[in-house]
Parts: sequence; C-alpha cells; structure tokens
Amino acid sequence: MQKSSKPASRGKTKAPAAIRGSVLTLETPASQLVLARCGDVWTFAHLGAKTARPADFAALVKARQCGDSANGNPTLETYPAFGSTRPSGRESAAERRGALQVRHADGDVNVDWKCLGVAEIPADDGATEVAITLADKAHPSFRAVQHFRAYADCDVFETWVELSHAESAPVALSRMDSFYFDASRLAERFHFLSLAGNWANEANVSETEVLRGQKVSIGATSGVRDAWENNPAFFLSIGDRATEESGRVFAGALCWSGAWHATAEHGYTHELRLSAGAANLCGPYVLDPGKTLPLPKFVFCLSEAGKGPASRALHRWARLHRLPHPGNRDILLNSWEGAYMDFTEKTLTDMMDGTKELGGELFVLDDGWFGRGKYARDNDTVGLGDWFVHEGKLPRGMAWLAEEARKRGLKFGLWFEPEMANTESELVSAHPDWCLQSLAGRPLRLGRGGTQIVLDLCNPAVQDAVFDMVDRVIRDTKGLAYIKWDANCDVNNVGSVYLGPEKQGNLWFDYTRGVYALFARLRAAHPEIVFQACSSGGAHAEYGFLEHADEFWGSDDTCAQQRVFIQWGENQFYPACATAAHVTAVPNHQTGRTASLKFRFDVAMSGRLGFELHPKNMTPEDVAFAKRGVETYKRIRPVVQGGDLYRLASPYEGDHAALAYVSPDRKRAVAFVYGLGRRCNDGSVSPLRIPGLDPARRYRVEEINLEKEGEAPALGALQGARLGGDAIAASGIPFALGAGDRSAVIELVADNRG
Ligand code: DGJ
Repeated sequence: MQKSSKPASRGKTKAPAAIRGSVLTLETPASQLVLARCGDVWTFAHLGAKTARPADFAALVKARQCGDSANGNPTLETYPAFGSTRPSGRESAAERRGALQVRHADGDVNVDWKCLGVAEIPADDGATEVAITLADKAHPSFRAVQHFRAYADCDVFETWVELSHAESAPVALSRMDSFYFDASRLAERFHFLSLAGNWANEANVSETEVLRGQKVSIGATSGVRDAWENNPAFFLSIGDRATEESGRVFAGALCWSGAWHATAEHGYTHELRLSAGAANLCGPYVLDPGKTLPLPKFVFCLSEAGKGPASRALHRWARLHRLPHPGNRDILLNSWEGAYMDFTEKTLTDMMDGTKELGGELFVLDDGWFGRGKYARDNDTVGLGDWFVHEGKLPRGMAWLAEEARKRGLKFGLWFEPEMANTESELVSAHPDWCLQSLAGRPLRLGRGGTQIVLDLCNPAVQDAVFDMVDRVIRDTKGLAYIKWDANCDVNNVGSVYLGPEKQGNLWFDYTRGVYALFARLRAAHPEIVFQACSSGGAHAEYGFLEHADEFWGSDDTCAQQRVFIQWGENQFYPACATAAHVTAVPNHQTGRTASLKFRFDVAMSGRLGFELHPKNMTPEDVAFAKRGVETYKRIRPVVQGGDLYRLASPYEGDHAALAYVSPDRKRAVAFVYGLGRRCNDGSVSPLRIPGLDPARRYRVEEINLEKEGEAPALGALQGARLGGDAIAASGIPFALGAGDRSAVIELVADNRG
C-alpha cells in the first residue's frame, strides 16, 4: 500500500513573498502570521485569519510600544532571551524571562539581541520559509537563527531555532526553548487542554482554566517515554473554553522525543506567556565553539472556529509533511498478544495463514525472535541488544520466515528495541560502558525484567554498533517492509561515560539526537521500510518520532472500551492513519473485559486497523465476520486514513462517543458510534450531526459492518436513505443504539444524482 518515499513536493501554489521592509508575512491557505520589526528585534504582530493589509498589524504593534504593556511586562519578541532589553527600551523584571538563558564563555549571563538580517529560504514543497538571524550585542558570535515556515496546503506554521557561537570557550545553555509567545490582553480567560497518562492508560484528556496569576506547566522527564505523563501537544482556548466548532484555539506541538516542557502562564494584567522546549534536567547544555545546536521544531496553528479545525490542520500537516510515507497503511497482524515470546516456526506460519485468510496484508513478528546461547530471548530478562536470530526458535532463519510471508502474499515486519539492552546480553557483557550510568559508578537501576537498561546513544560508537546489527538483520531478511521500534525503559541511570564530566547536562538532549541520528541512518539505508513508533504502548505518540515513523502504537491497553478514550485523546493531535489500533482476543489481556467482535472491530476501524491475536483461536463465525470487516475496512480505509476528523460526541461527556471522517473532496464519509455501557431503553444517543459534509450534495446513508448479515440496522428506516449534507449537518441522523457496549458504523456516499 505504501509508496516508497515522500514525494519532493506535496504542496501546491507558492505563497506570496514574505518580507516587505519591516513586515514579514507568512500565509497558509486560511491563516496568516505577521511579524514586525521593532528596533533591534522582531515581534509577533498577528496570528489568525488572513487579512489584506498585514502592514496594519505592524503599525498596531508599534503603537503598543512593540508589544510592551503599560507596566512593561510582556513582550511580543519572537525569541526573547534572559537579559534582553525590551523593544520599548523600558526595563522590567520581564528581562528575567524568555526562551533562552545562557552563560557566555566570559561568565556573562545576559543576551541582548540585534537582528543581523532576515532571509527568505527557498522551500521545495510550496511552503514559505524565512530565517531571522539574531546576534548578541556583547558577544556578536553568539547567534540564534530563528526559522518560520508556513505551509501552502495546510493551515500550520512551524518554527525552530539554531544556536551557535564562536566564543573562546563553551557556552552553557540553561534554558533553550523552541517557542515563546508573550502578549497582553488577548483575552481575560484561557483554558489549557493536554493529555496525561501512563502505561496502558494513555492520553487522558485534561482541560483546565488557567486563572489569572496562574501557570500550567506540562512536561516529561523520562528521557525516553516522553508522551506518557504528558503529551507534547496542547490546545489553548483564548477566551472562553472552545468547543469543537466554536472559540479561538491555539494548537501547539513540540516535535521532540526526550525530556520537554510546555507552559501557559496567565499574568495578572492578562498577559499570556506560552513556551515550549526541550528540558535540561541535570545542568546546562554545554555548547562548544563552532558547533550549531538545532532545537526541536514546534508546530502551531490558530483556529477561530474551535478545536475541530485545529486538529484537522495538524492531521493534514502530518499526512502531507511529517509522516515519511504517503498513502494508506497496511492491515497487519502483530504476533505479540497471540504468542508473546512463546512461538515456533509453526506458530508463526500458522499465524500467517490466519492473517492471509482474514484478508490481512502484513505479518509482524514482535519481541522474542533474537538473542544467542545463554542470552536467547525466551523471556524479558535476557537478550535485548543482541540482534541475531534466535536459532532455537527460528532454525531456518529470518529470510526463510520472510519468504513464508511472501509466499502467502503478505509483507513481513519485525520488532526491534534499538535503544535498549539487558545487562544479560552479549552487547552489555562486551561493552559495559555503553550503558547510560552514573559517573560515580553507582549500581545500575534496572528496568523491565530486572535487567533492562538504556544504551548511551550519545556515543556514535554505540549508534554504529546498533546500526550495524539492525542493518544486517534487515539485509539478511530481504524485503523487510515494516519495523516496530519499541522502547520500554526510562533514563534511570543518569550519566554518560562518553560525554565526560563537563557535559553531563547534555545527556537529555544528545541522547534524543542520537536516537534520531540512528533512526535517520536506518531510514536512509532502507527508505521503503515503514516504522511504527512504540514505547511501552503509546509513549512515542508525538511528532518527534513521527518524523521517522509513519504510525504509533496507541497503547498496550487493547481493550476496545478503553481504546475509545485513548484514541479520542491521541486523535486530538495525531491522525487516524498514524493510530495503530488492533483487534484482540477476549477477555482482554489487560482489563479482563469482553466485547463483541463487532465492537472491537468498530473501534479498531476508526484508526489503522490491525490484529493482535492468534487467528487459530477464532471461531468460524468470528473468522467469517472478520473477513467481512476487513473487506469493509479496505473500502473505507481511504476515508478513515486520509479524511478530516469531526468529533461528534465526547466519551468524557456522556455514555457514548461518536466521530466521523470526511474525505477531502467531501464525497464520502464514515461515522463511528460507540455506546459505553449504555442502559436499556436509553434514547440518549445524539443524532449524528456531521458538519463537514458538502451542504449542496445528497448522500446515501448506510449502516455497515453489521454483526450479522441481514440484521436490522440501528439506522432503522433510514438505512439506504438519501439525505442532504445540509440536513445532516443541521439536524443529524437519528438512530437507536441498543443497551451495553454497542456500536455502529455508518457510511455516507455522495449521490451522483446531486
Ligand atoms: C511493549 C509494547 O508496547 C508491546 O506491544 C510489545 O511489543 C512488547 N513491548 C514486547 O516486549
């Protein structure tokens, strides 16, 4: 299904020239970012709907003394630093804030920017990109190059900063945010929405008002599982709490897989300070002279019509510009819950037969296929890090197994955990210094299985060794189509022998850069491979990993009822095509709950459908239903995976959830409704009001994926009806969902008769 690489350009028309004297305008199809030069620096003048006269915003900002409020606190500077003179020239405690805080080689702790210039950077995908070069007045070699990019085919902006210097000795960076926005009186109320969770309980939606004088700060300190405790993406309602369809919403996402923070502060004169960046958890980052440090990218957008458009903009950006491979994702069967580490060649070929029979397209062998001799991976205490085929389980090797998949018309995928090792492994036995560890030689704190550690990927030699092993397996396997990249341990041992005593503070950042370098190298060597970002479930559901991986494993909680909530949270920011959702056996291995196969299918079909069970344990009735479900999914797959998401009823606000995908041309749509323990004779399911349809078209409405062929649909008399997009948006499609965990899938196809 996947094409082999990202096309050079998925954009369309080129946006207008960005730089006009002291006004810098970046435009997406419907929104505009205007920056204005104020003295030595640039300031945010406008982020919102497109306007005809961007220079007016510059004039207004200048009239506000370049963004300073009456008491001199906030600044609209695009990259304020600790110690800067504010554009107005008025001093205040605001100089203590900012995106950046450094200690120069001479001990000075201030930065005071002077803009050296602005350049428009040619972009090959229709985007408009500018780079603002700032230099410290007292240390002119200390520079920040701040990039802004506006996409021509989605309403998303991107920004990032590169720091460099040529001072006489290293510069210490104690704060190095990617984004900072500081403005006054945008509104008098602010509401912050973020995701919080843990293993098997990812992406709980939390929303709170940030009251005057308060600060809400989210972040992650794992160093690896960075999207668990919080996810590095958020919505900020500017004014009243936005709904799906109304209200002003700023959406932001930090593209980073290490330690990070994001903070929203509501000051007492109604300033709003938003910041986000990589976090330094054990001292400053030490930047050597002559080196350039690219900070993580931050993507953002502004919706004037609620959270729905903000989600859709991010999803579209991800599909068009972030995920490596365009197109639909394969329906796969992953071996984990069906076999765990207990398998033989026959187990796997039986699973392949089942995958084929169900209509699957890809078979993925999960954990347990590697390790040699006493480190053969028969349980989670040994073998991690030794990427050699487990000859006891797979005597005919991986190429043979891949060929078995190919013979059945299936693609073949493999699980790796490249960042980690067990202390019980050839790798760690040979290279104990390759583990992250305290420089004082403290005993290692061990993770999963009592033996798991994180490798020191700051060290290029470790990157090389892991690359060589993984690359060899890929080459030997021949035709490997998919890799599940897992990561199941935090940075529990803080220290890197490689970095040495002066640079321990660099660990958090350089570890993640090392992961990305390894990833980029593997991808460059094998561009056709589709990667899944997994980290103990959904801890890599973020746009740092999703530059290299096409999808993420949503959660180890595969219980369909729980997945309704988890996917609801993840899909606030991440698209359905990237959300791996698998049909698993019942009782569910995590929660012990049961659900009908239809319910499990209906939930998984709203993301990237897959299986995680042994097909031989399915009844003939289940197999028959699953075959029909897979065929149905293949038909609706382009709508689900490439469509715009409309959230219709939140599982947090009632006892059912509903969502719909509408194809970009608005000719097709699919809606999903999930009852969540609904009571008998409870008519409270909201009519399906789908706002994204074409009001001028009529749609044939049909409930699909019925439990039994010929069964009475929940749609009742409306089954097969032709209804106008305008009527569906205004009144909604009524239907009756039975009691308990019931679900329905409704397909809408535009009628050619108009
Ligand atoms: C954690 C993942 O989330 C699971 O899906 C599975 O791959 C296991 N690791 C394997 O150890």
